[in-house]
Amino acid sequence: MRWWDGTARIHVAVAAANALALAAMTGGVARWASLGFALAAAALIVCSLRSVTPRGELRLDRVPEREGGVVIGSGFEWGREEAQETVETGRAAARTEVELLLPDDILDRHILIVGTTGTGKTRLLELLILQAVARGDAVVVIDPKGDEGLLRRVRAAAGARFRFFSLPHPESSVRYNPLGRYRDVREVADRIAALLPSAGDALPFRNFGWEIVHEAASAIHGRKPMTLRNLKVAAIDRPVPALAGRPREHFLKTASALLPLFSKLSSPLLSPEEGGLSWEGVDRGREVAFLSLGSMLGYETASAVAKLALLDLQGYVGARYAYGKGPGPIWLFVDELGDVVTPEFSSILSKSRGMGMRVVGCVQTVADLEAALGSRARAGQVLGSANTVIQFRAPGAEDAEVFSRMAGERLVRMVSEGAAYEPALLSSGFKDVDDFRARFSESSDWREHALVPAWAVTELPVFHYFARVTGKILRGRVPLLR
Ligand SMILES: Nc1ncnc2c1ncn2[C@@H]1O[C@H](COP(=O)(O)OP(=O)(O)OP(=O)(O)O)[C@@H](O)[C@H]1O
Ligand SMILES: [Mg+2]
Repeated sequence: MRWWDGTARIHVAVAAANALALAAMTGGVARWASLGFALAAAALIVCSLRSVTPRGELRLDRVPEREGGVVIGSGFEWGREEAQETVETGRAAARTEVELLLPDDILDRHILIVGTTGTGKTRLLELLILQAVARGDAVVVIDPKGDEGLLRRVRAAAGARFRFFSLPHPESSVRYNPLGRYRDVREVADRIAALLPSAGDALPFRNFGWEIVHEAASAIHGRKPMTLRNLKVAAIDRPVPALAGRPREHFLKTASALLPLFSKLSSPLLSPEEGGLSWEGVDRGREVAFLSLGSMLGYETASAVAKLALLDLQGYVGARYAYGKGPGPIWLFVDELGDVVTPEFSSILSKSRGMGMRVVGCVQTVADLEAALGSRARAGQVLGSANTVIQFRAPGAEDAEVFSRMAGERLVRMVSEGAAYEPALLSSGFKDVDDFRARFSESSDWREHALVPAWAVTELPVFHYFARVTGKILRGRVPLLR
């Protein structure tokens, strides 16, 4: 808290006016002392006004470039005093804002951005992407929905380093083979099987699918390029000998989960036999790969491609780590993480620490993560493994509670007042004078109270957020870039 928060500035102004009046009435040393006092007070006020919070939207003219950290907007640290004021007044406390920085050394412990639709998640993602691009790092952006402004500004910032993969616009897209890079041929089957449903009755079909893809991939390995198209031919259209021997009807039944998947992934964009986008190229060339998936046009396909790309990237980062660090950090930005996360990928969040990978993901609600990962416990793991959680307005009490619990509790002073009136006739023995006695009381005690009450999270204005950064709580807001 700065000294001028609250009403301190008004008190200083009143003191300055008094000093001026005193200077006018006195003479000699007293006059000069009063004048000096008034001048000092005025200077203090001018200084404090210069750093006062601007009203309305926050705008930045250029992408901030800071040594040792990335800017996430402006705001203030939220501690016990702010919680106390919030509890007492019933309004979220406001303080003078300063620039909020996330230090570089916590970035490989990942950032999760949560908030309901239209609250500023993509704008914050953009601010971070543009800073990563400006630093010259390798950047991968997965945009399932296709945000025009985001694409335009990232493309302009990346210049010659920009690599664009777009399912809805194949004419302007690079090609990308998500199976082109693997160390062990089993990885190919793992990646495809991760896209098959696994809940309840579907699990045996996922296992059949794995087996079929593994046979086909083993037959292709070393003979032909490993692509989705070649895999489909070897697995379904003209099954390799290991599969062709099986009774046709039984085989088709076991392959039933694979058929719709292969048809979703049949775009020629995804099966180049050589060249195209590669994570190694992005890493070495410090490129900016932008994957625009158009989930509005075909959700299933967009989600399958994004999942494959993430698993491929996970494999690359693991291999890079095993053979020594790469040339620098790789940033992975995922808008709408709920559309693309798999249980297999969520493990990257907890295990990739120290591998030089920085993941920033956006989700609308924790329920999205839960649906994508199949259980609340796994969704909780993803939340827990993110060192930084940035919470924009939550759509309802349930999500707000999740953040509120994460922020923890503090001791807050609770004041209770009481008034009691009682007839005094019997107790006091006085007859006429005081027939009634009034008793007033005020007591205060310290109680554990949510540092960030859930209602404060459901009432956040657009572009405003609470953030938990390594155990500290911040209240901030995102600037818009001109
Ligand atoms: N440059 C801009 N100036 C003013 N308002 C903007 C600007 N860009 C976006 N907005 C508005 O800001 C709000 C937040 O936008 P943003 O795209 O970041 O939301 P979001 O949290 O990503 O939502 P969704 O989950 O729907 O993608 C939207 O209402 C949008 O219309
Ligand atoms: Mg968005």
